[in-house]
Amino acid sequence: MAIHFNERNKTFYIGGKDFSYIFRIKDGRLQHLFFGKRIKEQDVSYIADGRKTEFAPTVSDGAESSDVLTQEYPVYGRGDYREPAVLITAADGGRTTDFIYRSHSILKNKSKISGMPTLRGGETLVIELQDELYGLILSLYYTVYEDCGAVVRRVVLKNGGKSDVIINKINSFSVDIPRCDLDKICLQGGWAKERGVERSALTHGIFEVSSTRGSSSHHLNPFIALCDKNADENVGEAYGFNLVYSGSFSVKAQVDQLGITRVGGGINEKDFRWALKVGESFETPEAVLVYSAEGLGKMSRNFHDLYREYLINPAYAYKKRPVVLNCWESFYFDFNDKSLSELIAKAKGTGIDTFVLDDGWFVGRNSDKAGLGDWHVDYDKLSGGLKAVADDCRAAGMKFGIWIEPEMVSEDSELYRAHPDWVVRHPDLTPCKGRHQLVLDFANPDTVDYVKGVISDLLKENDVSYVKWDMNRNITEFYSVYLKERSQEFAHRYILGVYALAEHLTASFPDVFFEGCSGGGGRFDAAMLYYFPQIWTSDNTDALSRAFIQYGTSFCYPLSAMSGHVSACPNHQTARITPFSSRTAIASFCSTGFELNLNALTEEETKGIKKHVEFYDGISDLILKGDLYRLLSPFDGNYFSQMVVSKDKKKALFILMKKLARCNDVYPVVKLKGLNENFTYETGGRLYGGDALMNVGLKFPNDLKDFETVLMVFTVRGAEK
Ligand code: DGJ
Repeated sequence: MAIHFNERNKTFYIGGKDFSYIFRIKDGRLQHLFFGKRIKEQDVSYIADGRKTEFAPTVSDGAESSDVLTQEYPVYGRGDYREPAVLITAADGGRTTDFIYRSHSILKNKSKISGMPTLRGGETLVIELQDELYGLILSLYYTVYEDCGAVVRRVVLKNGGKSDVIINKINSFSVDIPRCDLDKICLQGGWAKERGVERSALTHGIFEVSSTRGSSSHHLNPFIALCDKNADENVGEAYGFNLVYSGSFSVKAQVDQLGITRVGGGINEKDFRWALKVGESFETPEAVLVYSAEGLGKMSRNFHDLYREYLINPAYAYKKRPVVLNCWESFYFDFNDKSLSELIAKAKGTGIDTFVLDDGWFVGRNSDKAGLGDWHVDYDKLSGGLKAVADDCRAAGMKFGIWIEPEMVSEDSELYRAHPDWVVRHPDLTPCKGRHQLVLDFANPDTVDYVKGVISDLLKENDVSYVKWDMNRNITEFYSVYLKERSQEFAHRYILGVYALAEHLTASFPDVFFEGCSGGGGRFDAAMLYYFPQIWTSDNTDALSRAFIQYGTSFCYPLSAMSGHVSACPNHQTARITPFSSRTAIASFCSTGFELNLNALTEEETKGIKKHVEFYDGISDLILKGDLYRLLSPFDGNYFSQMVVSKDKKKALFILMKKLARCNDVYPVVKLKGLNENFTYETGGRLYGGDALMNVGLKFPNDLKDFETVLMVFTVRGAEK
């Protein structure tokens, strides 16, 4: 049993292999006690007792003030001035709640949240609390993942009272860590520079990562890590928090006056107001809390194991991924059946197994100014329709995939002309456009149903095996003519509409492989991973930029979740020229593919395509199932290095990339990680002891060129007894 309630001291013990999560019922309220390295079940309430300060209100004389306590799910208005986890407005204008413990149960099996991504899992603690004044019932859910250092939380609020209430804020989780000496790490960026690792001290006040864009965004991922100041990849305590949510979100970390750090998050409360009628319930998305006593590396490996085992569609999680040739950077909008046929024919025999026809295949789509919403093939470009392209693919031994952007509509489209009320806009305002397009109102079930029908027909009629689901703008106005005065529910209802469509399509077409995309990595989050086993990591395909982006993304998401393509040089985003071998090396550490015109390659590059596919075939199991060890951060120095090791430690893939050449440079020595010190490994015809590789390290030439990479595969040759 990973979850246990001790009746005597009224304490809940949630235990994983390496961690403990402990809280108790005190005076009817939940008080957080500990989240950290596994300890034996014992009374640790001393850590929370005896905190007091002046100016702290109490509910009765002599009682402890909630302002100084470590809370499990803090409320508003009863003396705790820090960030509340839940905030409501009742019919009488009151906003104060006080949730008191009523009961709890420990479930053997976890149920799915209706309409939202849910990690699969088992043992789940459900605690029911009640607010007497308004009759609200709050259920806190905790599912334990013993081997992954993880607790997954969510909350359900039921209106069991006599009047409707408004929910102004409702976090998926909150946790109080009685420490104020932590560093924070967030993944920040923007389009084409997603998920850069930024680390600094967490100081007094509130630090927030958030999005108000209607999607989880390119800018700040719904992830934050807190760690010891001296924590690195290998040592120190690290906590990772990640929302299983793709909409506007907020995660805050607050350090208070007495040295408690409160972390909490969920749906962004900005511009959120949900009418909860009598008898109705509201369910939050899930939040993942991961603990590691072995630094940031182990924190990430915990996330990777958790997501591969319990989040990503099990039919695909560990299955070899399609090796894709995508035509976007080859042609953009400028193609026809002849150019496609030539490209497809050229791929024959390379080992590439799927061709993906990107944007531009449908009527009116000669630029990004028109056509979205009308998913009818443009016969002027493709005289034989999509079927002919699919036939070409089959003839070349490949499957056929297609790009769609189902949430969007162009003003110049039949769909918009027929249903101008189906777009996100205020009726009396000209809506903002992003990439010249409008967003469909996915809070309106009719819109979602319509798109379900159209896209289902498209997939059925065209022998499609792969779908790239794009989303290329942020939402504005946040108004729905369907919701009208309830439009502050729009942002959340929109994303529920997206989930409904994704659920429908992935369930109806289980054999179709879906890839997520949002102008690259604008919606790279755990919720999308539930539907789409991999996501286009960034529109930036430059090998050096990708080293940064993929390194940052790996803090929370597994390598197999990242799509990465070998693209042309000079690179289309950065104009950088990198060696072909560097491009394939970087694209080996993700779900690989190609994004370049095979007709415009040098002979050596053409051979290189086949070589890369064959090489990748031999290491794809590592990418799908292995343990990642980050060795040198591109954010910190002139080198990037990481390796991925099979669970049995018999095989590993290693990369070193030099950013810029330096004359008479030092000889880089890299110590490998994660191997078995008693194994002997072979690489490039040489044998090394695992102990030597990890302690002596490997020495590399000091004259590596700009962006040059060294890629090595290690295979076990024997083991010491
Ligand atoms: C943005 C995507 O990230 C690109 O890969 C490409 O699919 C374009 N959209 C197409 O419009």
